[in-house]
Amino acid sequence: MTSMLSIQNLHATVADKPILKGVTLDVPAGQVHAIMGPNGAGKSTLSYVLSGRGGYEVTEGSATLNGEDLLALEPNERAAKGVFLSFQYPLEIPGVPALTFIRTALNAQRRARGEDEIAAPAFLKLAKEKAAALKIDFDMLKRGLNVGFSGGEKKRMEILQMAMLSPKFLILDETDSGLDIDALKIVSEGVNALRAPDRGMLVITHYQRLLDYIKPDRVHVLAAGRIVASGGPELAHQLEAEGYDKYTVAA
Ligand SMILES: Nc1ncnc2c1ncn2[C@@H]1O[C@H](COP(=O)(O)OP(=O)(O)OP(=O)(O)O)[C@@H](O)[C@H]1O
Ligand SMILES: [Mg+2]
Repeated sequence: MTSMLSIQNLHATVADKPILKGVTLDVPAGQVHAIMGPNGAGKSTLSYVLSGRGGYEVTEGSATLNGEDLLALEPNERAAKGVFLSFQYPLEIPGVPALTFIRTALNAQRRARGEDEIAAPAFLKLAKEKAAALKIDFDMLKRGLNVGFSGGEKKRMEILQMAMLSPKFLILDETDSGLDIDALKIVSEGVNALRAPDRGMLVITHYQRLLDYIKPDRVHVLAAGRIVASGGPELAHQLEAEGYDKYTVAA
C-alpha cells in the first residue's frame, strides 16, 4: 500500500532544543491514524512542523505528501496542496466574522491552485448547507471567529472549516480537556464524514474514548520525540489501562 503522508526519520528543534528525534510514520490514503503519547512528547510539534509554522527547524529527515517534498513548501502552499491543521488551542480573531475567515481561506487556496474564486452566492449556499448539517446556528458565523465561543462551538466551527475546505490531508490536534460527550461526538462524526479513499488523517488525542468513535486504522505512541509503539485500536485501550510508564522509561 502506498503512503499518502510519509515521514522518515524526522528530527526538529524548537529554540535550538531537539524535540523530534527521528519520527518515522506512514499514513496511506483512505486511512485515519491516531497519535497518543505523554505531555511534552512532541505531538503538537510534529503537527506544527508538518504545517510549516515558523520557529521550528527541521535538522534531519523528510516528510512527503503523495511523493512531494512537504518541507520545501511555504505554509500557504502546503494549505493549497490540501494540508489542514486544526489547533489544540483554536485562535480567536476579533472583528473577523467566521464566514469571512472561511471564505478568505477557501479563495486563497483556490487562487493558489489556479482556480477561480467561489462567487458569493455559491459560497453562502454551501456555508448554509454545511452549517445546517452540523447544527450550527448560521448567525454564529457572523460573529468574530471563535470569540466567546464555547469549547464545543469552537469544535463545530473547526469541523465546518474542514467540511468547507475539503482538505486532502487533515491533522487534528485535539484539545486535552473540556470536551463533553457531545463535542467528542461532533469531532468523531466530522472525521468519519470526511473519510474518503483519497484522503488521509492524523488525529492527535489523549482520549481513548474519541478513538472508540473514530475507529482509527492505526494507533501510534509518540514518546520523547519518537514513535515508540504502533498497533491497532486495542493499543489505545492498553494505554488507557496501563499508562505511558513503560514507554517513557524506555525512551
Ligand atoms: N519555544 C520553545 N522553547 C523551548 N521548548 C519548547 C518551545 N516550544 C515547545 N517546547 C517544548 O517542546 C516539547 C514538546 O511540546 P509539544 O507541544 O509538542 O508536546 P505535546 O506532545 O503536544 O504535549 P501535550 O500532550 O501536552 O499537548 C515540550 O517539552 C515543550 O516545552
Ligand atoms: Mg500538544
